[in-house]
Amino acid sequence: MFCKRLNLKCQSLVVLFLFVTAVSTAAITKGPVLLRVGQNKAVVMFETDSKGAGSIAVKGTVALVGKFSTSVDVVDDIKGKDVYIHQAILTGLQAGRSYTYRITAPEVAAKEHKLKTIPTKLNKFHFVVYGDTRTKPDRHRRVVEQIIKTKPLFVVVSGDLVSSGSKYEQWDSQFFGPIKGLGESTPIYATQGNHDLSKQKYFKRLFVPKGESNNYGFQVGSLYYYCLDNLTTNTDKGLDVLAKNIKASESVWKFVTYHIPSLNVGGHSSAWGYPKALPAVSRAGVDFVITGHSHIYERFFPVAPQKGSAGSYVTHITSGGGGAPNYKLAESDILAKMADCLHFCLFEIDGNKLTLKVIDDKGVVIDRLEISKTKGSLNSDYIATAITMEKAQATLEGIKNRKKNKNKNSKKNKTK
Ligand SMILES: [Fe+2]
Repeated sequence: MFCKRLNLKCQSLVVLFLFVTAVSTAAITKGPVLLRVGQNKAVVMFETDSKGAGSIAVKGTVALVGKFSTSVDVVDDIKGKDVYIHQAILTGLQAGRSYTYRITAPEVAAKEHKLKTIPTKLNKFHFVVYGDTRTKPDRHRRVVEQIIKTKPLFVVVSGDLVSSGSKYEQWDSQFFGPIKGLGESTPIYATQGNHDLSKQKYFKRLFVPKGESNNYGFQVGSLYYYCLDNLTTNTDKGLDVLAKNIKASESVWKFVTYHIPSLNVGGHSSAWGYPKALPAVSRAGVDFVITGHSHIYERFFPVAPQKGSAGSYVTHITSGGGGAPNYKLAESDILAKMADCLHFCLFEIDGNKLTLKVIDDKGVVIDRLEISKTKGSLNSDYIATAITMEKAQATLEGIKNRKKNKNKNSKKNKTK
């Protein structure tokens, strides 16, 4: 397997067409899916089964539509034939405008989809975070159907989109298939999980626009969101890059997503970056860290800054309820809420106010949180629920020791 890229550039026209080649058996085999969408830019990914068979057309006037370029990535020999990943990078768009686009191929009815750029000023909006969509497409689809009803501005996926990242067909059956009706008009900001890794780098080829990184931030209204790939990024480097980006932002709300949690008691009981991660995200000024990996829902009490250190009160959430089989919960006095069911997190930001609703696959709200900020500080009754950094770290230390003892005992039993 190897990868080839072709790059083409086009100037703006009233209706823009890229490469159009008459191939009688052409089909769009994946997408279209919106990737990173900003105020003036959008990236559309789609796949075809013939080289040059796909084209993108964007409706609008010359004044509305700027330039765009595409790259074509050839995935060789999938079930005996090549497929072609297209990334159409639309630039020079106007902020806060709706566009209609369609992907065309011969003999395929060209369906129109909406694309909306991010407005320069946006006070009220809502978005979804969910993860671990792998393995059970029917369960994933049930979650997606509930997400579609909420009409989010964008969706963040916290990783493990598929069971085995090296099996190319799973990207369709477990992810792109179940998100039909969502990803065409709603940007999907994905973060890589351990199951997504592959030597062919399919995650990167499908989700990361050419020239961009797995680690990236984006701005929407009063929110700054940073997605970190904590599978392929060294822990110290990851915490450093995250802190630099978060600190540089003057946004009211600062969110971070990475796959393996830094605070998690049920399921895998992970502690990525221990003992540095919890103090690091607080010092950086993060409000929410939303992760996956454990197929459960956990919302922890906000973790206070380390004694003698300035920082934010950070709410850690494990949200791995996107479709994969449920994991076991574990009781802990640092948990505000837990559940072992399919779910997604719906955040609404209204200036200084934030509402979180966690919704299951039947549309039932299983957790709710309302907080606000005044002059950069969280409301005092929420801060009153905080646990100390020392208590959170002690919980992780306890989990680490229990795991160590368990491993020791199982080794002993094996040698008996
Ligand atoms: Fe995972």
